[in-house]
Amino acid sequence: MESNIWKTNKESVFNERTFGEWGNKSSTEEQVNISKPSEFKIDYVSKPMPIFSTIIQDHVELNKYLKEVILEHRQNNPTSTESNVKAWHSSWMTHNDNPKFQPLVDRVLDACNFVSKGFFQCQSTEYMMFNLWAMMYEESEHTLRHSHFPCDLSGCYYVDVEPDCAPIIFEPVLKDGVHDNNQPFIIQPKNGLLALWPGILHHEVKPTNSKRMCISFNMDKSRGYCSRDEWIKGEQNNG
Ligand SMILES: [Fe+2]
Repeated sequence: MESNIWKTNKESVFNERTFGEWGNKSSTEEQVNISKPSEFKIDYVSKPMPIFSTIIQDHVELNKYLKEVILEHRQNNPTSTESNVKAWHSSWMTHNDNPKFQPLVDRVLDACNFVSKGFFQCQSTEYMMFNLWAMMYEESEHTLRHSHFPCDLSGCYYVDVEPDCAPIIFEPVLKDGVHDNNQPFIIQPKNGLLALWPGILHHEVKPTNSKRMCISFNMDKSRGYCSRDEWIKGEQNNG
């Protein structure tokens, strides 16, 4: 089964100040006069967003293993679907299609639970792997700007990259009246580097000079935000 959440081949850009018509949609002219649909106004605020990164301890052995798994997977699945990734990539559900990716799934979910507890201070939240796909960029291949909304957390793990390959750029500047003053954050891929970020963050990869083999993923909460006790405690703290 394939996800259709972000199966898009167009850039995800939203720079309007209003959008849509919401509520009370009527089918007859008479009703339209009675109940006019509402329009949403959009204002923007800035907020620092965390991007977590680490080098996985046993990455040398892990990457040797994953490289073989990816090459074998590509041999069996040579064709990519059309998407914002302009390079070979496997299906969005590769973790379901091929159990050999499980060692990475385990590490990534462990890392998600770690940041959820440590950074977001939510002790009982657990994450599940919603999507996972492998990518192999050759020279000049790239990925268009996009986000992974509505997924909670997204990430990338670098399996086999060359030092001068294209970085991942978060929140690039767009001259669209909304993102003009963005302060992009750049991660230069390294073998063994795992990056995690809130799925709402936009990112892109410019045409690369050299090869980059990596695996991306999306994680969602498999359980609620926090336990009832935690929620009550939070409410008390919030006065
Ligand atoms: Fe992405």
